[in-house]
Amino acid sequence: MDKTAELKLDGKTYQLPVVVGTEQERAIDISNLRNETGYITLDDGYANTGSCQSSITFIDGERGILRYRGIPIEELAEKSTFIEVAHLIIFGHLPTSAELRRFSDLLTENELLNEAMKHHFEGFPTQAHPMAILSSMINAASCFYPELFGPDSRNTFVVQAARLLSKVRTIAAYAYRMSRGLPIIYPKPDLKYTANFLHMMFSLPYQEYDLKPEAVKALDLIFLLHADHEQNCSTATVRMVASSRANLFASAAAGVCALWGPLHGGANQAVLEMLEAIHREGDDGSKFIAAAKDKNSGKRLMGFGHRVYKNYDPRAKIIKRVCDQLLEKLHITDPLLDIAKHLEEVALKDPYFIERKLYPNVDFYSGIIMRAIGIPVEMFTVIFAIGRMPGWIANYKEVMEQPHSRIYRPRQVYTGPTLNHYTPIKERK
Ligand code: SDX
Repeated sequence: MDKTAELKLDGKTYQLPVVVGTEQERAIDISNLRNETGYITLDDGYANTGSCQSSITFIDGERGILRYRGIPIEELAEKSTFIEVAHLIIFGHLPTSAELRRFSDLLTENELLNEAMKHHFEGFPTQAHPMAILSSMINAASCFYPELFGPDSRNTFVVQAARLLSKVRTIAAYAYRMSRGLPIIYPKPDLKYTANFLHMMFSLPYQEYDLKPEAVKALDLIFLLHADHEQNCSTATVRMVASSRANLFASAAAGVCALWGPLHGGANQAVLEMLEAIHREGDDGSKFIAAAKDKNSGKRLMGFGHRVYKNYDPRAKIIKRVCDQLLEKLHITDPLLDIAKHLEEVALKDPYFIERKLYPNVDFYSGIIMRAIGIPVEMFTVIFAIGRMPGWIANYKEVMEQPHSRIYRPRQVYTGPTLNHYTPIKERK
């Protein structure tokens, strides 16, 4: 007998169905609540609300577990690559050699932008934030593919996915080049995904970028670790837009906008700016920690805390280790890493952070790696967006494939004026 939840309201008792996931996540299905009771639910920030059932990513926030299609992030970080993981996340299984070759070839075939798009790039001011350019140019790119909007767009999903995943990298690199007044560097078909991105970012017409294997691998791992994260703010945004049957590129562009916020993907840029400010002031971090605990300071310890993880973010553990390894291999000493480690050490012993279960999240150390590779801080959230693209594509696909997928349209509790009437301007005070 399926479990139900009993709800007593206004002298009546209702039985609500209980849904249990494969990892024993339990939910009360309230799909008929308003029809049956006249009540809706209210949940600030959706902290207690499941918007969907999904089979892509599993997170156990209490135990610090993250798995893509059931495979632990630690195993994938050690043994896989970003593009292999992208295939896993989007299509639900690790690719065979033939599948990986086909997917990789599709990415290569789609790495260029339509040459006409260069005019759009030229229209942006050099100080334009690359996240603004990224969201605009993803939508601009869709204008060159009318089949995205056609009735049979589902039949071309694989090509669309490869197109988006490949071009997001090219758009990002072009945005960086334009911001520095540098000539655009075209992708090279013989380079793999992440190496090609670094080539487009840092090569010069007369000099190839020195693709250090450890730097390429570190950035590939950063992409891999960001590839999906269940119903985070930007992925939930992608699903919201997908639910109206908007096209893949429009949904991803909306995801970029949501990711930009400093409480979400923008935190990696905010962490670096925080560390630089602490370093400039000669503080060891103690003053900043005190401010972060003071509600009136308007400051937070960026890169700390998480809506789901009430334990150490498993991605942060991996990134912290790679930080040490990469800086050693590149013979770099970065005072900001020492400040970050000191902040973590002090915070993890501080009752304020302990009581609120605030731990380092994915954004706390990732910027140190990107800085060591030479990626400028304003590009950090763009790197996050490139990494998250497989997750957005997979969630878009999941919405489109649901047989009875309905448009996402939350209700509200209205708190505005009751019945009111128009007042002619002469009578207004
Ligand atoms: C990402 O959802 C995802 O999965 C996101 C992500 C992904 O992969 O997609 O993991 C990526 O966005 C990681 C988070 C990056 N953001 C930051 O690092 C910004 C700093 N962190 C916070 O602003 C905050 O922790 C959030 C936004 C991450 C989570 O916010 P919640 O769950 O809404 O928690 P909250 O703001 O209600 O805070 C609860 C308490 C409050 O104190 P009290 O009112 O209970 O006294 O904890 C405090 C907050 O003031 N708090 C912090 C803090 N984070 C929470 N205090 C100081 N510094 C912090 N970083």
